[in-house]
Amino acid sequence: MVAANQWIKIKAPATVANMVCGFDILGFAVNNPYDEMEMRWVERTANEPSITIINIDEYQLPTDPEKNVAGAALLAFLEELDEKIKESTITKVISSSNTEKIPTTTKIKFEVKINKLIKPGSGVGSSAASSAGAVVGANYLLGNLFSKDDLVRFAMNGEKLASGVKHADNIAPCIFGGVTLVRSIFPLEVVSLPSPQLYVTIVHPQIEVRTADARSILRQKVLLKDAIKQWGNIAGLVAGLMKSDYDLIGRSLEDVIIEPVRSILIPGFDELKIACKQAGALGGGISGSGPSIFMLSKSKEIAIAVEKEMNQLYDGIGLPHHTYVTTINQGGVEVEN
Ligand code: HSE
Repeated sequence: MVAANQWIKIKAPATVANMVCGFDILGFAVNNPYDEMEMRWVERTANEPSITIINIDEYQLPTDPEKNVAGAALLAFLEELDEKIKESTITKVISSSNTEKIPTTTKIKFEVKINKLIKPGSGVGSSAASSAGAVVGANYLLGNLFSKDDLVRFAMNGEKLASGVKHADNIAPCIFGGVTLVRSIFPLEVVSLPSPQLYVTIVHPQIEVRTADARSILRQKVLLKDAIKQWGNIAGLVAGLMKSDYDLIGRSLEDVIIEPVRSILIPGFDELKIACKQAGALGGGISGSGPSIFMLSKSKEIAIAVEKEMNQLYDGIGLPHHTYVTTINQGGVEVEN
């Protein structure tokens, strides 16, 4: 357990949800961009709130914990904390280096400083990074009482606030790192998947697509023939990752259900995909609910060539954008004391 008043530093990675065919179930973390946070716990005095949020970026996100995704995740964490402390044995509640007893929720206040380097609404898991970073940080401060699965459950409250629905395809890779499959939400079951070396190119056209809006336009019914195609692709992608079969990964990066509806929100989407594949990308598609688009490649050289195509296309239509060439982040949220 970290002593009261001592700040810790947190790095929470961006994530690419869906991985094209695995809507709400597949995702991976990337090494760039990431959010920076600082957190500490302090003794709470009577009538003080249990969470204080300080935004140190330009986005002016709400600081009321109930309206902030990090706050919503922390409130869920605090709701189960006392029960967890009761269950823990005395050796668990007292760390070897520090004999301070884990404070109960009546005594604890978390202070969180958030520096969002992942632009909200960009489609690379900005809200998940804040929610996941906050609960991983809180857990670290109190001596890692909760499991990673517990933390995913808490952080999903942030996603519910952001998009109206609890989904864990950004949260799980943000906390676990690597590629994750959310086999089930209730009860939660996260499966970490291996992956061969993959380079990721991301373009973020500077338009905002709200996740809630991008979800509201989806059809609620799926044709059986489309479902069969999608199942084949999801299974093919998972098998391709496990067998390090790049061609199978590439062939499986196809979405016949969500992408045809959502891609109309993203200017130049179809042309961009064709150009990136011609430049050698294995495949890719909308990152999360967009507007960012990601492509996977076998080598850094190809990933850079793909970035060039993305720049050319958006420069051509005069749409401001940012690009990233990065790799899959294997560790998830990092904490530094
Ligand atoms: N699976 C979610 C969606 C991710 O596509 O709506 C949102 O980031």
